[in-house]
Amino acid sequence: MNRAVERILITEEEIREKVRQVGWQISRDYEGKDPIFVGVLKGCFIFMADLMRYVDIDCSMDFMAVSSYRGTTSTGAVSINKDLSQIIEGRHIILVEDILDSGVTLNYLKNYLMVRKPASIAVATLMDKPSRRKAEIYADYSCFEVPDAFVVGYGLDYNERYRNLPYIGVLKPEIYENE
Ligand code: IMP
Ligand code: MG
Repeated sequence: MNRAVERILITEEEIREKVRQVGWQISRDYEGKDPIFVGVLKGCFIFMADLMRYVDIDCSMDFMAVSSYRGTTSTGAVSINKDLSQIIEGRHIILVEDILDSGVTLNYLKNYLMVRKPASIAVATLMDKPSRRKAEIYADYSCFEVPDAFVVGYGLDYNERYRNLPYIGVLKPEIYENE
């Protein structure tokens, strides 16, 4: 286990099994709809890569990169660093996120894309922290509901580190305190 991790919250095996189930469910729900999976970088990259291998219907993929301004003076402002590379009018969109926390980022993104008149927008998230929600947004597909702890691994970072851990771990409090 990485020495910055206090405990493993979700193991590799648990992730694999749940991601497989969600991939299967999305495939059944979107059969014949040719959806576009839109990954929200960077946190989505491992989840999306694994999820897509369990999706067995025609689909395409695209990515967006956003940054959200957080912290005590947060205004809930989100900026788009990379936009989609295709037209989404009339298409079914599935936004793929690492974690739905306050929901501010995804809520912004959903409204931002809605203007382009897609046929639908759904949200698939690896983790959901419903206790922290500020925006009116729900996950259509969620692999794990997690408590209000700062988690890293499987794509999620703390200051750009730990994305490479193959499991989801709770970060040791001293990691924040030392920085
Ligand atoms: P929201 O706008 O508050 O929902 O923020 C969502 C984004 O914040 C996620 O996509 C993550 O990048 C980041 N985030 C929220 N909680 C955590 C966490 O526990 N660990 C790592 N990143 C997190
Ligand atoms: Mg993210």
